[in-house]
Amino acid sequence: MSNKARFTRNILCIGAGYVGGPTMAMIAARCPQYRVTVVDVNPGRIDAWNTDQLPIYEPGLLEVVKIARGRNLFFSTEIERGIGEAEVIFVSVNTPTKTFGAGAGKAADLQYWEKTARDIIRVAQSDKIIVEKSTLPVRTARAMERILDANDKGIHCEVLSNPEFLAEGTAVNDLDHPDRVLIGSHETETGIGARDVLVEIYANWVPRERILTSNVWSAELSKLAANAFLAQRISSINSISALCEKTEANVNEVGRAIGMDSRIGNRFLRASVGFGGSCFKKDILNLVYICETYGLHEVATYWESVVAINDYQKRRFVQTMLRVMFNTIAGKRITLFGFAFKADTGDTRESPAIDVARKLVEEQAHVVITDPQALQNAEKDLAGCRSQVTFTEDPYKAAAGAHAIAVMTEWELYKALDYQRIFDGMEKPAFIFDGRNILDHRELHEMGFNVFPLGEAALKHF
Ligand code: NAD
Ligand code: UGA
Repeated sequence: MSNKARFTRNILCIGAGYVGGPTMAMIAARCPQYRVTVVDVNPGRIDAWNTDQLPIYEPGLLEVVKIARGRNLFFSTEIERGIGEAEVIFVSVNTPTKTFGAGAGKAADLQYWEKTARDIIRVAQSDKIIVEKSTLPVRTARAMERILDANDKGIHCEVLSNPEFLAEGTAVNDLDHPDRVLIGSHETETGIGARDVLVEIYANWVPRERILTSNVWSAELSKLAANAFLAQRISSINSISALCEKTEANVNEVGRAIGMDSRIGNRFLRASVGFGGSCFKKDILNLVYICETYGLHEVATYWESVVAINDYQKRRFVQTMLRVMFNTIAGKRITLFGFAFKADTGDTRESPAIDVARKLVEEQAHVVITDPQALQNAEKDLAGCRSQVTFTEDPYKAAAGAHAIAVMTEWELYKALDYQRIFDGMEKPAFIFDGRNILDHRELHEMGFNVFPLGEAALKHF
């Protein structure tokens, strides 16, 4: 039987990263009637998707991939062929912060996204539905439409916005049971037609009441706003953690007390050394840039402060380490427990551990890094300061002979270590800085550690 006869839809995704790979794997697993192909310019990534050593670490993902791979899920570098065959094309390429020219350091770098639009229109021989899966500045769809419309083949490409809300580490569950799926379209006949196709795809496993539709601009902006609101909560609780440390209030108690107010809610109120991840900072700065271009300077300043507090929190963390370790850490061995930007991922993009490690290196400390999944990425991130950094997977080896341990990532395994054994092997006085507030601080103090949690009183022996 030909592919056309066997499958009711031909779906393509351009970009096989943290979003493209998992989202397409879920669609393919839940919809055996569709043929789903994921393409990428990076052959190494595609090769990895075709093995059991997937290019990203994500709990439960391999199982989902295995349901569909080779059946109706395919990973390939044949971008043009994929474009030619597909009727629905998700675009999930990276949209990093621009590092050059106008808007450098804030605006989104849309070169990868624009290139896909040009690839699509160069190759296409039939009408297509183009789905913005990447996170994009509000009104990007208009620019894309202009590029796609500029063809003399009589082809119509309908652009939809379908931002992705998955979080790394919980991507499989987030995709399987999303809080909502958002689809933005134009209120035109072709817009509504395309929207209905995408609604039908998701309705294979997402309850209808969780599939929201809106206009394109609302969908684009909702993605930026959602990340800004989430990051804002973390900066809010982190700002309170600084005040707690001055006043003997306890940030965990404050977080619990305010979180029980159902109007506030209890999630995303964990104080930390700072938020990381590829998107929070990038998307907020993108929002700030858009506000500035519309002359909304007060709005821009408001959102920019969320990033400023995050930078302050990372700085403050290292300043505390330096201050309590007698104002010098030169030559001292300092071990970072965790390097990933959160638990259950190997991703280190914008991880607070990068900034902390670099600042410790500036102070001439010797930094030892341990992490169960992120060491490869950590080595790349710290390539510039290799002579002062060591990497080891074994946390006991990492802590041996250390003057201090700093918890950077909330991996479960760090809660269950034998801290007496660790204490015995450390230089004294031994310090622990818990940048995630996951350890039993009282117990550690009783063992002899000087313990510095976030947003609560330190437990010291001096
Ligand atoms: P990523 O860097 O992991 O993956 C992007 C992929 O696109 C790369 O493999 C790259 O090689 C490929 N690519 C770039 N240009 C291409 C082209 N012209 N043709 C084919 N392939 C091309 O990025 P990601 O983390 O998956 O993020 C993708 C988008 O999704 C971003 O806009 C991001 O903001 C958004 N997003 C990310 C997450 C997340 O958890 N990482 C969550 C929601 C939304
Ligand atoms: C985040 C959003 O949660 C997703 O909805 C969104 O799709 C995604 O960004 C994106 O657009 O890329 P992600 O960055 O993967 O997902 O992970 P989060 O769970 O949001 O954590 C982000 C950072 O905030 C991590 O460093 C985490 O440790 C930190 N965090 C989170 C805290 O410090 N405190 C909290 O209470 C929660």
